[in-house]
Amino acid sequence: MFKRVPGTKDILPKEVSSWQTIETTARKIFSLYNYQEIRTPIIEEVSLFNRTLGATAEIVQKQMFLIHNQEDTYALRPEGTASIVRSYLENNLDKEAGLAKLYYIGPMFRLERPQKGRLRQFHHIGVEVIGSQEAILDVEVISLAEQLLRSFGITGYKVKINSLGCQKDKQALSLGLKEKLQKKSSQLCPDCRERIKNNVLRVLDCKNEACQKIIRELCPSFDYLCPECLGHFNKVKNELNNLNIIFEVVPWLVRGLDYYNRTVFEITHPDLGSQDAIGAGGRYNTLVKELGGPDLGGIGFAFGVERLLLAKNSLTEKPQEKLVYLISLGETAKSAGLKILNRLRAAEIPCDTDYLNKSLKGAMRAANDARANRVLILGDDELKKNNICVKDMSKSTQREIPIENLIKELKC
Ligand code: HAM
Repeated sequence: MFKRVPGTKDILPKEVSSWQTIETTARKIFSLYNYQEIRTPIIEEVSLFNRTLGATAEIVQKQMFLIHNQEDTYALRPEGTASIVRSYLENNLDKEAGLAKLYYIGPMFRLERPQKGRLRQFHHIGVEVIGSQEAILDVEVISLAEQLLRSFGITGYKVKINSLGCQKDKQALSLGLKEKLQKKSSQLCPDCRERIKNNVLRVLDCKNEACQKIIRELCPSFDYLCPECLGHFNKVKNELNNLNIIFEVVPWLVRGLDYYNRTVFEITHPDLGSQDAIGAGGRYNTLVKELGGPDLGGIGFAFGVERLLLAKNSLTEKPQEKLVYLISLGETAKSAGLKILNRLRAAEIPCDTDYLNKSLKGAMRAANDARANRVLILGDDELKKNNICVKDMSKSTQREIPIENLIKELKC
C-alpha cells in the first residue's frame, strides 16, 4: 500500500470543517480590512527565493523543494512574500492607484525534518501590503493578525516585536553582534561559528540549547537604530498601546529571512512545544526595488494553518446538515428516485440515496449514519399513486404526500 510522503498530511473529511471555518473566518476579516485575495503559482524560479530570502537563509540552503526538468530547475514555493512581490511587479499592480492590500491562503513547501507542527507541505494564511512605509500600516497589519486570532477563538498567544532598522542599522546590529559573539565563539555550535562569519544574525535563530543560552545572556540595546528608524519603532509601539494590543519587545528577534527591515514580529503559543510560532511577519522596504520595481515599502505576515489548528486545540464540529435521504425500493422506484434527487438538488435541498442496494432496514441505518433529518421512502405502491412517504427522524412521524408537494413539504 502506498503511504503519504513524510511531512505531508491528508486532511480528512472529519477535519476539513475546521479548515473551512478558519478560511471562511479569515476571508470575512480580510474583507473588513479591505484586503483582496491573490493566488500565485506554487512553482517559481529558484533564483527568486535565493535572491530575496538570502543565500545564507536556512530555507535557501537546506529546505528548498526543487523540480528539475530538461531545461530548468524550479522551486516549490517555501513562502508567499517573494512570489507576491514578483506577481505585483510582473502584473504592474504598482501602476494602479493606492496601496495593494493582498491576502493569500495556500500550501507552502519546505524540506524540513518533520515533527509536531513542522511539515514539509504546510499552509499559510497571510497578507502583504505593498506601497507604504508608514508606521501606522505596521500597526494595522499587527492588529489584523491579532484580530484574526481572536476571531479563530485562539487565546493565550504572545505578540513579540522588534525593529531591525534600515539596511545601515542592520549592518551596525550585525557588527555589534559579531563582536559580542566572537568572544563566545568556542561555546557556540559549529553551524553558528560559521554563521558568525557569513551572516551573524542567523545565530539568533539557532535552536541549539547552548547557543540559545548565550543569546539570552547578551545584553540587548537599541543603539544600532538611526533616529528615523527609532522614531518609526516608537510610533509603532505607541499606536499598538493605543489599540490596547499587548506585546513584548524582544531585542533578539531578527527572523530568518534577508528581506526584512524595520519592524519584525512573531506570535507564539505555549501549547505548540518547540515549534511555538503560529505566525510571523515584518517589513520589507527594499524588496520591491531589489526585484526591479520602484522604491516602495511593504509589510506582511503569515500564519501556519496547521499550527493555528494545534493552538485551537479542538475540531470544529461539522454543523448538522439538513440532509434528506431517499430510499427507493425496486427498479422502477430507483429510476423515479434519481429524478426526484435531481429536482431536490435543483431546489438546493441536500440529499442522498442508497447505492448499495440495501434492504429497507439497512438503508434506514445508512440514513441514520448520514445524520439525515428526513427520510423519503418510495416503493411501487407509492409510485402508482404518485405519492412518496416522508419520515421525520427527529419526531419519528411519517406521512404519505403527493410527489409534487415534496419540495414545499421539505422546505417548511
Ligand atoms: P515564516 O516565519 O517562515 O515567515 O512562516 C510563517 C509561519 O508559517 C510560521 O510562524 C509557522 O507558523 C508556519 N510554518 C513555517 N514553517 C512551517 C513548517 N515547516 N510546518 C508548519 N508550519 C510552518 C514567512 O514565511 C514569511 N513569508 C512571513 C511574511 C509575510 N513576512 C512578511 N510577509
